[in-house]
Amino acid sequence: MNMSSSRKRVFSGIRANARPHIGNYLGAIKGMLELQDKFDCIFAVVDLHTITTPYDTKTLRPMVKDIVLDYLGSGLDPKKCHIIIQSDLRAEHLELAYYLGTIYQVSRLEDLPTYKEKKAQHPDYVNMGLLYYPVLMAADILIYKAPLVPIGQDQEPHMEVAREMARKFNSMFGQTFPEPQSYKTPGQYVPSLFGEGKMSKTNGGTIILTDTLEEIKAILAKAVTDDGKGERFPEAGPAANLVTFVELFQGHDRAQQYRSEYKESGIKYQELKAELAEAIYKELAPIQERRKYFEAHPAEVETILEEGKTYAKTIADETLREVRSKMGL
Ligand code: TYM
Repeated sequence: MNMSSSRKRVFSGIRANARPHIGNYLGAIKGMLELQDKFDCIFAVVDLHTITTPYDTKTLRPMVKDIVLDYLGSGLDPKKCHIIIQSDLRAEHLELAYYLGTIYQVSRLEDLPTYKEKKAQHPDYVNMGLLYYPVLMAADILIYKAPLVPIGQDQEPHMEVAREMARKFNSMFGQTFPEPQSYKTPGQYVPSLFGEGKMSKTNGGTIILTDTLEEIKAILAKAVTDDGKGERFPEAGPAANLVTFVELFQGHDRAQQYRSEYKESGIKYQELKAELAEAIYKELAPIQERRKYFEAHPAEVETILEEGKTYAKTIADETLREVRSKMGL
């Protein structure tokens, strides 16, 4: 087992507001899986971010554990990477977030599209934590000096904030942080099955990693379709979205066949959906098998999290010592 910290560091996280769906899997977890073989990776369940939008205090902890199981089920391998719960390192992440917050413009945070979306979604829950969300996210990444972050397209505004903060800190106090870059997978933007926008935990109707074949079929049955036929294959809309899923789960050739069919005989969506459901389930079945193993071995999971915490804390403490000293504290 080579956990050498001389390798390039990678950090990423998933919130615990709902179970990860296939958008999170394709856009983020698949990137994590690719990188764990080569780099020094720390992957987190970011529960401090979760509480910035309405949540249930009773289900938060079980949800965090569920997501750890989803990570392990997906194939994050504790022999290759470190898995942490953000609040296990709350003092460290929050301390750096505070320092970073002191060098960043409030107006920049207020202008972020992600903040505006959340404000519109939860008009009665516009709290300081929500405004501070990108600051804490930057701290998550910079505390480990991670230059690489496997992450979906929707998080690009936050990644830009993290880069700006690294630059600003470096210019004010001397070279300290790398400017983190996103690591993108082919599934960096998974569309919603039900119309506009991306697949999202808050829109409902998502396929999660433990869904059965029947459940996947039932969700796909409700996915929006069009006539299935036209002069040109559309760039957006129901046909484009469904064929994106085909591309991601069944490959480029099958997707191209559907694109041609659209212009010729027409796509039979019932058949497309049946075939796609099988393909999605085929990818999820081994994840579900592995997940069951870890579900049945909670002590093993606790050990993995303890190890992750100890490893991460050493790095975080070192960064904080450097930051405090450079800031004259
Ligand atoms: P969260 O939980 O909203 O999303 C987790 C990851 O899934 C990606 N994602 C998608 N990718 C493709 N298609 C989609 N439809 C889709 N929906 C979501 C997200 O881009 C993300 O990579 N702010 C982060 C959590 C976070 C974090 C961090 C991430 C906090 N601190 C530090 C990386 C590094 C988030 O949106 O989580």
